[in-house]
Amino acid sequence: MTTTRQALIAMLMSISTLLSAQPFLPDAAGEQFIDSLLSLMTLEEKIGQMTLFTSDWDVTGPTLRTDYRDDVAKGKVGAIFNAHTAAYNRELQRMAVEQTRLGIPLLFGYDVIHGYRTIFPISLGEAASWDPAAVERAARVAAEESTAAGLHWTFAPMVDISRDPRWGRVMEGSGEDVYLGSRMAVARVRGFQGDDLSLPNTMLSCVKHYAAYGAAQAGRDYHTVDISDRVLRETYLPPFKAALDAGAASIMTSFNELNGIPATANAYLLRDILREEWGFKGFVVTDYTSINEMVMHGSAADDADAGLQALRAGVDMDMQGAVFYNYLGQQVKTGQADIRHINEAVRNVLRLKYALGLFEDPYRYGDENREKAVILSAAHRAEARDMARRSMVLLKNERNVLPLSTSLRRLAVIGPLADNQADLLGAWHADGKAAEVVTLLQGIKNKLGNTTDIRYVKGCEVTGNSQAGFEEAIAAARISDAVVVAVGEHEWMSGEAASRSDIRLPGVQLELVQALLRTGKPVVVVLMNGRPLAIPELAAQAPAILEAWFGGTEAGNAIADVLFGDYNPSGKLPITFPRSLGQVPLFYAAKPTGRPRDENNKYTSKYLDEANTPLYPFGYGLSYTTFAYGQAAIDKPSMKLNDSLQLTITVTNTGKRAGEETVQLYVRDKVGSVTRPLRELRDFQKIQLQAGESQQVTFVITAETLSFFRADMNYAPEAGEYILFVGSDSNASQSVTIRFE
Ligand code: NOJ
Repeated sequence: MTTTRQALIAMLMSISTLLSAQPFLPDAAGEQFIDSLLSLMTLEEKIGQMTLFTSDWDVTGPTLRTDYRDDVAKGKVGAIFNAHTAAYNRELQRMAVEQTRLGIPLLFGYDVIHGYRTIFPISLGEAASWDPAAVERAARVAAEESTAAGLHWTFAPMVDISRDPRWGRVMEGSGEDVYLGSRMAVARVRGFQGDDLSLPNTMLSCVKHYAAYGAAQAGRDYHTVDISDRVLRETYLPPFKAALDAGAASIMTSFNELNGIPATANAYLLRDILREEWGFKGFVVTDYTSINEMVMHGSAADDADAGLQALRAGVDMDMQGAVFYNYLGQQVKTGQADIRHINEAVRNVLRLKYALGLFEDPYRYGDENREKAVILSAAHRAEARDMARRSMVLLKNERNVLPLSTSLRRLAVIGPLADNQADLLGAWHADGKAAEVVTLLQGIKNKLGNTTDIRYVKGCEVTGNSQAGFEEAIAAARISDAVVVAVGEHEWMSGEAASRSDIRLPGVQLELVQALLRTGKPVVVVLMNGRPLAIPELAAQAPAILEAWFGGTEAGNAIADVLFGDYNPSGKLPITFPRSLGQVPLFYAAKPTGRPRDENNKYTSKYLDEANTPLYPFGYGLSYTTFAYGQAAIDKPSMKLNDSLQLTITVTNTGKRAGEETVQLYVRDKVGSVTRPLRELRDFQKIQLQAGESQQVTFVITAETLSFFRADMNYAPEAGEYILFVGSDSNASQSVTIRFE
């Protein structure tokens, strides 16, 4: 009796968690509305709701249909992407609402990845803030602006874990770590979707790319993925699960095959895991023509076959492939396609249109007055500046070269990225405009006014071999008190279809910096890039290096804030910086080896020509102040399943200025039923300390902290010893050992 009641309560509780986690689910009246709408729809109208076409505003993939307006007017398309601004989208919406038989409103999507018009740092940079609240605010700003411009749906967050810096899309995610990536995923979903999707300033998020897109072989975009189920579940799926638990309303399939089956027709991913295990009730959209691409993958005979496979596997909406559009009608008539799959897909899509309130008022999103008021507003620019400052990582600062004094007599500002607007936007910059970007040079001028003589020389291009500009750059350096040199990548060198087989500084930029260093002047290197770069020479030779990523609209002001000490850098690397490409993949949460490196023993795990350690580890980042960690202490030596224990450590600001520190907690299971990584991030706290101030930081260790997929694939802790490491990066040396019983 008791067990039945307990089981019932548990079931009800899990249902209610599921419901509360999927705030987009309609109430009974909503379901009824959708039922009745479905019952009125023709097959062609249903297929229309499963079809997404791009407009000709923006090119984000290989093919373009030009007749999308015609399709809208005929009700043959239910969603449009890459179209924006209130006026333009309203006109399209009017066609859908007024010219089609049932007047079902369109859904407008766009890649609003790190801002709509006010551009924030690239997502990898935002993740370097280790500040979920700030990242949530950034996504909120993006939603405010893009909804005013008539958008309902962003193709974000991108939550692909990647451990290969060759892959250009690392710029778009949150780096290499499962826990940090999950925290960032949740923050972004909350920022975009808010608490109420029907509000005109909140939008649907679309978590992508499901799944394991970041595990492309050799870091080459769109390449094969072949990983074990364990690695899939341990490393690649958790950020998706976290985003969906936070309420993400849609999910995008990835281009890659996963262990022989393209993700877009992968029933294991789309039905077994997504729908059955996780209970997801939102909708599944493909990536751009990824149904069609199954033919090239060699898993479908032709587009029609690919479409059937995708439908059966659980795809609800076809992005730009026109496969459902072209073949599904006929396939239903011949009995090849099951109408139940179609009804389910259409229901999933209509639910979200309903949640947005589009049936109540299809025009509630785009609004010219709101566009004028919010887009690129002073408040949004201020948020972008703040986020950009938080994203920067101080990699090196010998002899306290930084911060620079504001009373320098002469300053040389050098480099191909020093007065560059376009690159600072980073890839996926939506409606961001280069002309609105504050360059580094401008930011420095804004900061120093006329009191310092600022000499700008480009010196060289990002790419190419010409050193013709070196002489002028060196001359400017020689007569200056200090040199700021901005080097890195073009924005197009990362992002989609932008893998590199060489992750060193392109062109002659290294030579430029080295020439400047030879002047003997204090040289500060500002890096702008979308991936980890292999920069061992800079690390050895330059006294100061600031990783500034692509910082967005306010980048220049933000960098100047950091360079001149108005903001004390607090970012930490969300991804390992290797010494050289030969070490890749290199990530901190690696497994142990049976033969750990031993300098004096040939038969151990090492390279003949390279160290095993990274140049800069995950979690690493300096400040203008210093932090000292006391002894880690625990309130009891062991714990049980429903128990918890506390780890405390005192952190002291031992320097002369206030600063922020990210205290990181890593866990290692000493002996497991399966081997466990050397350490895994399981928690972190960002604290603010005045000079000389100490704070006790407490981490609560629960079963969740210690859980992993055991040999039996149950996610739970195992009895035995765990080591808890705490400190300022993934090499954290303070540790305590606890027992789980
Ligand atoms: C392809 C990209 O992989 C995806 O991330 C993006 O959302 C779509 N194109 C639409 O632009």
